[in-house]
Amino acid sequence: MLERLQKIISAAGITSRRASEALILNGQVAVNGVVVTELGSKADPSKDSITVDGKVLKISAQRLYILLNKPPGYITALKDSQGRPLVTDLLKDVPERVYPVGRLDYNTEGLLLLTNDGEWANRLMHPSNEIEKEYHVRVRGKVLDQQLKRMAEGVELDDGKTAPAVVNLVKSGEQNDWISVAIHEGRNRQVRRMCEAVSLSVVRLKRIRYGSLMLGTLRSGQFRYLTESEVKQLSGEPATGASFTASARFDKSDRSEKTTRPKHSGGKTIGRRQQ
Ligand code: URA
Repeated sequence: MLERLQKIISAAGITSRRASEALILNGQVAVNGVVVTELGSKADPSKDSITVDGKVLKISAQRLYILLNKPPGYITALKDSQGRPLVTDLLKDVPERVYPVGRLDYNTEGLLLLTNDGEWANRLMHPSNEIEKEYHVRVRGKVLDQQLKRMAEGVELDDGKTAPAVVNLVKSGEQNDWISVAIHEGRNRQVRRMCEAVSLSVVRLKRIRYGSLMLGTLRSGQFRYLTESEVKQLSGEPATGASFTASARFDKSDRSEKTTRPKHSGGKTIGRRQQ
């Protein structure tokens, strides 16, 4: 299937759609050996040889979209200088290299998305999309209404005040309370720092929702592939009309082309609810 060249290149995850357009305009892109400088140009990534700066884009037959229930004690990265376990170690029999969409801290657990579709990942992570993520947090002792209210209204952190959040008391135990926190920002260690800001001590942190997508009953350390409608819903595409076609990426060690084949919490709500 023919697709716009800039879409094929950005789907490879190497660069954004706009930067891909610049590559084309600069004469750095060729299709079947012929340099293409027109932005409307199309190619069939399953048949055509597409090069950028002389390097052939590796074509894979399928885009992969994975939901992993990350256990605590895993790094959201592709390598770790300290040799700690990587989230990708859990992806047995996944035929293509996939990359995490955003990150969860080493000790955070729950819903993590991974994909080889760079453009989709960029769309999900773009701040303008304001995708809401919901976390369940076990905190030491009893939570006060005032603490929930402050978190919901926004707390002052060293990188600025947090946007309004939705904060619920989910469960009250003898030693610990569980709260849910739904935010649409993606700052580093944001939920932990919001809790610290209102003097709440985090015992456990788990992401249970990403936009419309729930973690569900997937066991810790297990993963599943997303359905086509989940993929489209997350990126705001209409349920029909968009297509799943080939994706492409570079393999730095091998310049030849290769084709491979290979799823809310309840409680008292404080703050705004946004889907
Ligand atoms: N907020 C955190 O503090 N940690 C995470 O891993 C995710 C959100």
